[in-house]
Amino acid sequence: MEVAPWTTLLDALREYLDLTGTKKGCDHGQCGACTVLVNGTRINSCLTLAIMKDGAEVTTIEGLAEGDALHPLQRAFVEHDAFQCGYCTPGQICSAVGLIREGRAKTADEVRELMSGNICRCGAYPNIVEAIRDAMRAGGGSRGHERIFLHPGRRRGDRSA
Ligand code: FES
Ligand code: FES
Repeated sequence: MEVAPWTTLLDALREYLDLTGTKKGCDHGQCGACTVLVNGTRINSCLTLAIMKDGAEVTTIEGLAEGDALHPLQRAFVEHDAFQCGYCTPGQICSAVGLIREGRAKTADEVRELMSGNICRCGAYPNIVEAIRDAMRAGGGSRGHERIFLHPGRRRGDRSA
């Protein structure tokens, strides 16, 4: 794909690839709604230019399920009713996949601390923590990747120049 050099990874995903599962909340690194995994590491996609991730493996919420089989963390969020409006949920789940992969959180307090970059306006925090701990106990890792390769350029009709 070709993107304008000033395009954030978040906008590349949503506006160029129509992967709208990744949400735009604050658009400046404060809410975590835009969290995706880049080469397995969680990042705020609103703070990264797409061209900086040329050749990287980017996993969004769309890439976690395998067909009809939900990712263990997606299942845990459903089972624990860990959302209300759902706007923060894709970011919460991608962040939790990264958290589990990091292997640093062992207790509920550590989960809270290391997930503190993901804000939930609905206040579903207790259930989110329970869902994550459940997936951790079950050994819920990550799977599924959407590999995208990004190259600088102008999209036809791009009006932001
Ligand atoms: Fe990226 Fe809020 S939209 S942190
Ligand atoms: Fe509504 Fe988190 S479920 S913001």
